[in-house]
Amino acid sequence: MTLQLGVLISGRGSNLQAILDAIAAGTLDARVRLVVANRPDAAGLTRAKAAGITTAVVEHKAFGDRTTFEHALVALLTRASCDWIVLAGFMRILTREFLSAFPERVVNIHPSLLPAFPGLDAQAQALAYGVHVTGCTVHLVDEGVDHGPILAQTTLEVEPADTRDILAGRLLEKEHALLIATLAAIASDRLSIEPAATGDARPTARWRGAPPRV
Ligand code: GRF
Repeated sequence: MTLQLGVLISGRGSNLQAILDAIAAGTLDARVRLVVANRPDAAGLTRAKAAGITTAVVEHKAFGDRTTFEHALVALLTRASCDWIVLAGFMRILTREFLSAFPERVVNIHPSLLPAFPGLDAQAQALAYGVHVTGCTVHLVDEGVDHGPILAQTTLEVEPADTRDILAGRLLEKEHALLIATLAAIASDRLSIEPAATGDARPTARWRGAPPRV
């Protein structure tokens, strides 16, 4: 099943680039239908345009409240026929307003082993805490910050020479690989999401075979 992706970004867009490269290389069965940035200066917009992808800027500052901002996002993404949404460095928290439009189909990549170090600058948080092992997580998005059912994780040992930037760079390579492996697994039905059975339960990720180790 070819994933029809909407990708939300706020900045650099290297995870978006990894998606575009994997599609071009034939390793990810997906089409990016729309890239939306909440900042007009997001560098990822240039990457999308270079790949011939439709882009939109929806500046959160232009909206009076979160609800109308999210309505605008949902309208664009549904009009573009997106069925999966990838948060690729999107720096806004999404509420039920947005999430209910794409139930269990919003994916985020985060540079830590969640539930450790959610929020901003997870790499610096991990270094400051003194962990010996960190990693990255791809998860379904719920209403918490960097929160929701985990789809895939990979680990990385912290080296003595790691500064925040060195560690972030080493993690970024892992992020790209893990994000692509997870999306490819969804597209090929090796990873499926079982909806929550009751109001209290969370959806569950079911892997056919082992989850990726990247
Ligand atoms: C990545 O580290 C991602 O995990 C986090 O924000 C960063 C975005 O980087 N959520 P990029 O814009 O994809 O290069």
